[in-house]
Amino acid sequence: MKGNIITLSIIKPYAVKRGFIGPIIAIINEAGFKISAIKSVKLTIEQAEEFYIIHNSKPFYNDLVEFMSSGPIVVMILTKENAIEDFRELIGSTDPAEAKEGTIRKKYADSLQKNAIHGSDSDENAIIESDFFFAKKDRF
Ligand code: CMP
Repeated sequence: MKGNIITLSIIKPYAVKRGFIGPIIAIINEAGFKISAIKSVKLTIEQAEEFYIIHNSKPFYNDLVEFMSSGPIVVMILTKENAIEDFRELIGSTDPAEAKEGTIRKKYADSLQKNAIHGSDSDENAIIESDFFFAKKDRF
């Protein structure tokens, strides 16, 4: 496989709560991503702080940590050629008001914070984020 191979995705608490796990995973499958690992977890405040440490100087950090630990999430390692860019294209802009028609965020996001889904922004972060959630033995 050429190009980057994995991205880490999270279906966020509000999208899980609203029953969007199934429809979102269907879109991911149809776009040709293989689900190499998947689980449902509820982060503690401390775990969310650690996961989002790169944003710890941002004004929205505390709200982000609180929101991401507010309920269960679905975490996946997705595998595909050009996984990072193709997945970011599939999910759309961080702010759903700017997301293109047909993207996951356009369909299922409510706001910048409740933006339904996360995708890694680089190869380096895909590896760090995947290692945060999954042991090697739990990846297929
Ligand atoms: P994501 O890229 O998945 O991970 C970081 C999250 O921080 C991002 O999604 C948004 O949900 C959130 N975020 C980014 N910018 C802002 C902002 N200006 N205000 C509130 N939340 C933000």
